[in-house]
Amino acid sequence: MNPWILAGLGSIFLVMFLLVSSGLFFPYSGRADSPRPKRVFIQHTTRTFHNLQGQVESQDSGLWINSFDFTAVQHISPHIPEINDTVRTHCREDRPFCGYPWFLPVKFLSKKNWYLPASEVMPSSPLEFSLLSKEETSWGTVKMTFRAKGPSHMSLYLMPHRGASLSTWSFGDGTPQYDLSGEYFVFYSHGVDAPAWTFWFEIQDPDPLGPEGMISVAISSHYFFGKDQRTAQLQEMLNRFPDWSFPSSWVSTYDMYRY
Ligand SMILES: *[C@@H]1O[C@H](CO)[C@@H](O)[C@H](O)[C@H]1NC(C)=O
Repeated sequence: MNPWILAGLGSIFLVMFLLVSSGLFFPYSGRADSPRPKRVFIQHTTRTFHNLQGQVESQDSGLWINSFDFTAVQHISPHIPEINDTVRTHCREDRPFCGYPWFLPVKFLSKKNWYLPASEVMPSSPLEFSLLSKEETSWGTVKMTFRAKGPSHMSLYLMPHRGASLSTWSFGDGTPQYDLSGEYFVFYSHGVDAPAWTFWFEIQDPDPLGPEGMISVAISSHYFFGKDQRTAQLQEMLNRFPDWSFPSSWVSTYDMYRY
């Protein structure tokens, strides 16, 4: 090809590339005929962490915010100043899925999220979660059976500790499948009037068992609709989002147990 044409095309590409990446153009629009919304997820969440003895070790609440593009919250902060990088989260590797109520196993997709302290959530039908039984099998594993009664959507996160591994469970064909981040994620949804969800897994515990126990189990509830979906604080925050943004929001809980 003619080197002049090549150089011409190359410079057009370079100029366009620089313009697009310079941030000179505002990327979002709320116009109905050409919408380019900024997508944000906001989960008003209460988190409760239990220790090996079953006691509550810590509890907190906040608005957990996920932004799914590279501009993060840089265009949101001018409108809602308290959403800024001072409230960026840090992954706690010792908690399943960093200790946050992911509703899909996409922890690797969105590395940036924010947690703004807020009041406790009080859903009218809170999640009931219990360990029904824990028994040693004759083939050397520990079988744990659980019961969960909660809203239509729940996520379960399993994180076997160092040296421990899941050998089988009550889901699918019985072979535990971990996700891209190496943790186990189960998404459960049910219709109205479903019975309580019971499930089990078998774990091969390390010998000797370390001081951290064999597994961390966490469960999240997601109130996607109905009167439990919003809180006053969440509504107030939503009202302040600019019209070119599209916040999806709901109430969640995250409860973690160690065994
Ligand atoms: C950043 O957020 C924190 C906590 O939400 C807030 O206290 C602070 O004032 C914010 N900073 C700015 C520059 O608005």
